[in-house]
Amino acid sequence: MATLVRTQVGIVGAGPAGLMLAHLLGLSGVESVIVENRSREYVERRVRAGVLEQGTVDLLIATGVGERLKRQGLVHHGVELCFSGKRHRIDFDALTDGRAITIYGQNEVVKDLTENRLAAGGQIFFEASDVVVSGFEGANPSIQFVKDDEAHKINCDFIAGCDGFHGICRRTIPSHALRLYERTYPFAWLGILAQTPPSGKEIIYCRHDRGFALHSMRSPQLSRLYLQCDPSDDLAHWSDERIWEELGKRSQTQEGWVLRPGPILQKGITEMRSFVAEPMRCGSMFLAGDAAHIVPATGAKGLNLAISDVTVLARALEEHYRAGRRELLERYSDICLRRAWKVQRFSWWMTSMLHRFDSDNAFDRRRQLAELEYVVSSRAASQSLAENYVGLPPEHPPL
Ligand code: APR
Ligand code: PHB
Repeated sequence: MATLVRTQVGIVGAGPAGLMLAHLLGLSGVESVIVENRSREYVERRVRAGVLEQGTVDLLIATGVGERLKRQGLVHHGVELCFSGKRHRIDFDALTDGRAITIYGQNEVVKDLTENRLAAGGQIFFEASDVVVSGFEGANPSIQFVKDDEAHKINCDFIAGCDGFHGICRRTIPSHALRLYERTYPFAWLGILAQTPPSGKEIIYCRHDRGFALHSMRSPQLSRLYLQCDPSDDLAHWSDERIWEELGKRSQTQEGWVLRPGPILQKGITEMRSFVAEPMRCGSMFLAGDAAHIVPATGAKGLNLAISDVTVLARALEEHYRAGRRELLERYSDICLRRAWKVQRFSWWMTSMLHRFDSDNAFDRRRQLAELEYVVSSRAASQSLAENYVGLPPEHPPL
């Protein structure tokens, strides 16, 4: 016999989407339980992107999980684009209403949310195996899993599929009930975390004939750097020396450039993909975050989009429980997809503008450079980049 748990919302996945949903629901008095197949340590250590839009920062602070973020986050008022040997700054202060982005690792957000959730008495089952969702097309949604060799069953009113791109929730929806849109790119990113001060004050996106490079950071002593590489590349082919040499070549400028190689603490290869599943709901199961859509990392949007989805979902569930109104639940998928497609467009555009495509001919390369020239020389074009980068306004009324 399985151990039975009863809750209002059963959440699969303790990434940013699942944790933030549980947090927001908790603040509204809605009960939830999270089931995660990895360990707490694994999830908290998994290094991912680290750019928070202004709206994400404001929400974390307003809901009481932004204390460390306020102390340790690095607020940036611009980004740089580097091409043809020159660096150009996109000034957010001048181009948006004084909005900014904050550098704070996704795993730090996950740590803060996990700690807060557990302190508030929230339940998270880590290291759950054989997770299965069922009953969401009928009246009895449930999540079943095994933990410490014991079978568990969570009976709930709603399931939130927050289990990322490789999770089981989306895959459990019958294929005729979903429409999938996808684009893969003929390159990947090799990402490193290095014990060395960042080479610039802000994030630098470099377009180079040898391929794209990105300079980011996690703290005044820790750099986060990326190189465009082949999707089938093997980390064994990338010695530390080769990585630093390649970063140097792709980021060279006429004014000179101080790249300070240092010990590499972590290395990984990430695929680049654009993906959307429509609708983001099947019966009483709602998909949120990477489970429903993923964007190539060039726009730094994945985490922000996940937070935006669950903000809408939490509000919709709250209205259902508080006022018996299902209108927002019915509109959840449409509201989220409107934003998701705008973010898809921006991420695809940044990716296309900055990477080397082997299929490009000489014309395409000149056109790509002309696009960059236009972006940095036209106020309208740089404003378009800036307003997307700091985050478009929400598609739903303010909370
Ligand atoms: N059962 C339970 N949990 C699962 C399962 C499963 N079968 N499959 C995956 N998970 C967990 C993963 O271990 C992970 O902790 O679901 C969580 C999903 O978290 P994320 O992948 O971080 O996705 P999400 O919360 O939507 O956040 C989106 O993540 O991939 C980045 O760039 C992306 O920043 C964006 C963010
Ligand atoms: C990061 O800091 O990890 C980062 C920054 C910008 C991106 C992607 C990742 O576009």
